[in-house]
Amino acid sequence: MNNDLIVGFSGNITRPSSTRRFVDSVTQSLAAQAGLPHAVFDVEDLGPSLATARSIDDLDPAARKVIQTIVDAEALVIGSPTYKGSYTGLFKHVFDLLDPASLRGKPIILTATGGGERHSLVVEHQLRPLFAFFEAFVLPTAIYASSRDFTDGQPSPLILGRVNQALAEASVLVKARARADAIAAE
Ligand SMILES: Cc1cc2nc3c(=O)[nH]c(=O)nc-3n(C[C@H](O)[C@H](O)[C@H](O)COP(=O)(O)O)c2cc1C
Repeated sequence: MNNDLIVGFSGNITRPSSTRRFVDSVTQSLAAQAGLPHAVFDVEDLGPSLATARSIDDLDPAARKVIQTIVDAEALVIGSPTYKGSYTGLFKHVFDLLDPASLRGKPIILTATGGGERHSLVVEHQLRPLFAFFEAFVLPTAIYASSRDFTDGQPSPLILGRVNQALAEASVLVKARARADAIAAE
C-alpha cells in the first residue's frame, strides 16, 4: 500500500456513467483533503480481457496495471451502479481475481447509484460484506444516490452532506496510516 494515490474504482459497465462521475467527485474530494494525487478507473478501463480472465495472470498488461494501482492505493473510493439489487457482475469479477489479503486494512469509502430508493441498502447489504471479506477498513458512512439525487450531474446537498461525513471519517484513518507508515520507516 504505497503508491501515495487515492484511487476510485467504479463498477459501471457502460459510459457515460453517473456512478463513475460520482466516484470521481468523491475521490477528488478525498485526495484534496489528504493532499495526495488521485486516479479513477472503471470496469471499462480493464478492457476485454477481464470477462474471460480466470486469474490475474490472464489479464492483459494494462488491466493488470489498473488492478495493481487499486491494490497499492493509500485509500479507495468504491462505487457501483445497482444492478438487480446488487453491484454489477463484472465489478464482482474484478474482486474475485484478487488475493484475499490484498485489501487488508485499506481505508475504503463505499458508494452506489441506482434508479430509485428501493435498493438504497445495496451499500450495506452487498458492498459492505464484500469488503469485510477483504478485512478492509470500510468507513461507517456509505453513500447511496439515486438518479433523483443528481441535477445536471451535481449531487444534492443531502448527498454532499453524506459525502462530507464519510470524508471526516476518512481523515482520521488516513492520518493514522501516515503516522503508522512514518513509525515503520524509522
Ligand atoms: C441491468 C440493469 C439492472 C438495474 N437494476 C437496478 C436495481 O435493481 N435497482 C435500482 O435502483 N436500479 C437499477 N438499475 C438502474 C441503475 O442502477 C441506475 O440507472 C444507475 O445509476 C446507472 O449507473 P451508471 O450511469 O453508472 O451506469 C438497473 C439498470 C440496469 C441497466
